[in-house]
Amino acid sequence: MNALNRDIKKLVNCIEKNEKERVNKDYWRLKFHLMPPVGWLNDPNGLCEFNGEYHIFYQYSPFDANGGIKFWGHYTSKDFINYKNNGAEVFADQPFDCHGAYSGSTIVHNGKMNIFYTGNVKHLGKHDYISSGRGHNTVLLVSEDGKTFTNKKLIMTNDDYPKNMTCHVRDPKVWMENNKFYMVQGARDKDDIGQVLLFESDDMINWNIINIIKSESKFGYMWECPDLFNVDGKNILLISPQGIDAEGIKYNNIYQSGYYIVDGDYKTNNYKLRDFEELDRGFDFYAPQTFEDSKGRRILIGWMGLPDIEDLYSNPTTDYGWQHALTIPRELKIKNNKLIQNPVEEINMLRKDKKYIEINSNINEDAYDTFDMIVNLEKCDKLESTIKNCVNLSYDREQQLFTLSFTQGGYGRTNRSVSLDKLNNFRVLCDTSSLEIFINNGEEVFTTRFYPTKDNVGIKLSGENLKGSICIYEMEAY
Ligand code: FRU
Repeated sequence: MNALNRDIKKLVNCIEKNEKERVNKDYWRLKFHLMPPVGWLNDPNGLCEFNGEYHIFYQYSPFDANGGIKFWGHYTSKDFINYKNNGAEVFADQPFDCHGAYSGSTIVHNGKMNIFYTGNVKHLGKHDYISSGRGHNTVLLVSEDGKTFTNKKLIMTNDDYPKNMTCHVRDPKVWMENNKFYMVQGARDKDDIGQVLLFESDDMINWNIINIIKSESKFGYMWECPDLFNVDGKNILLISPQGIDAEGIKYNNIYQSGYYIVDGDYKTNNYKLRDFEELDRGFDFYAPQTFEDSKGRRILIGWMGLPDIEDLYSNPTTDYGWQHALTIPRELKIKNNKLIQNPVEEINMLRKDKKYIEINSNINEDAYDTFDMIVNLEKCDKLESTIKNCVNLSYDREQQLFTLSFTQGGYGRTNRSVSLDKLNNFRVLCDTSSLEIFINNGEEVFTTRFYPTKDNVGIKLSGENLKGSICIYEMEAY
């Protein structure tokens, strides 16, 4: 580690230590989700399994709960239950990344972690930062041991991207296939069309662009955080597009996050994107990334937050010096040509006390502070369920609509819906200030932050032509 890195790491350690007491005073500090030790968190980065440990990096701005210069924070875990905070590890400390070590990914190869990320450079002076004034550099950082992260190399810069790109090319995701390396990067071209650049390399140093993947008609001006992988025989392109207008109950967040199933050969022009599907229907989900673990699972982690939402809704945790969190790791599968998401099974290890309730009449139950609730339904024409007097979940079979709405504790959040022809089951992972709701075995997901007070407790459930059971487990803290 060089002297500058050592100094920044020390500084971040100091801030984490100094602020710990204040941050931990916050009742809304989550019990079983990863958060920044202090300050701001956004995208998950560099997800991988290396030497028997999961590595979860994230965009980390320790100096201010409202963001600022981005480093990579770093958690490690052997089991998705016990986590070690390793503090900040990838710093903005070079001329090619001095305004932020932006998002990227890791590929484990030849016993080393090869980390690719975007070195963000903003030129001082008057610029629009779209067409000029920004360096968007692709950087390779090699770590031999997963503990030291100083060996950085600039491998692509503005001139290496196609001429019709703006200064917005970023978030490299790298993988290996048939002894070649591939990289996708999100991009905005000079016609303001969001797209993905696909590169190929033999050595991870020299990259050639081999294709540009975009939708047949324009779908947003920028595609952030792309990911491309195969799951259950289908090629999936994840993107986080910006600049999409709401269409009824679809695309209601400021920016979206979803996927295309890609048919044909995306390495040539002989490919076709099916319809774009949103990954999550809630208020707080963006910039997910996936990796394959040694058990062959395709695991996704998302940012439980969104950028640029300050005027729409907020997170009162900033009063305690921190903001945002990551989702529970979710395992991906394909079912009926649809991506389904469910919490990794390790999460069940956090279950403690249990209550089992048959749904015979209206339910009004004192639930736990943090819980995992599974509702199985044999029949359901209508359902209303209230969580901690703050969030209502409702389903109407005639209207084929599932809705999440806030009565209080939303800090500006209102309601979101998804169309659903039948409600068979749903699972609610309720942490002190977050809800992740998995519907019909993970076919639809709603992720949202919510801010109940300590006396907002309990669960209510009622409905029409309703039969089934509820199982509620108390959840232990990480
Ligand atoms: C997505 C994003 C990425 C970028 C990073 C910067 O939230 O804007 O495109 O690399 O955040 O923190």
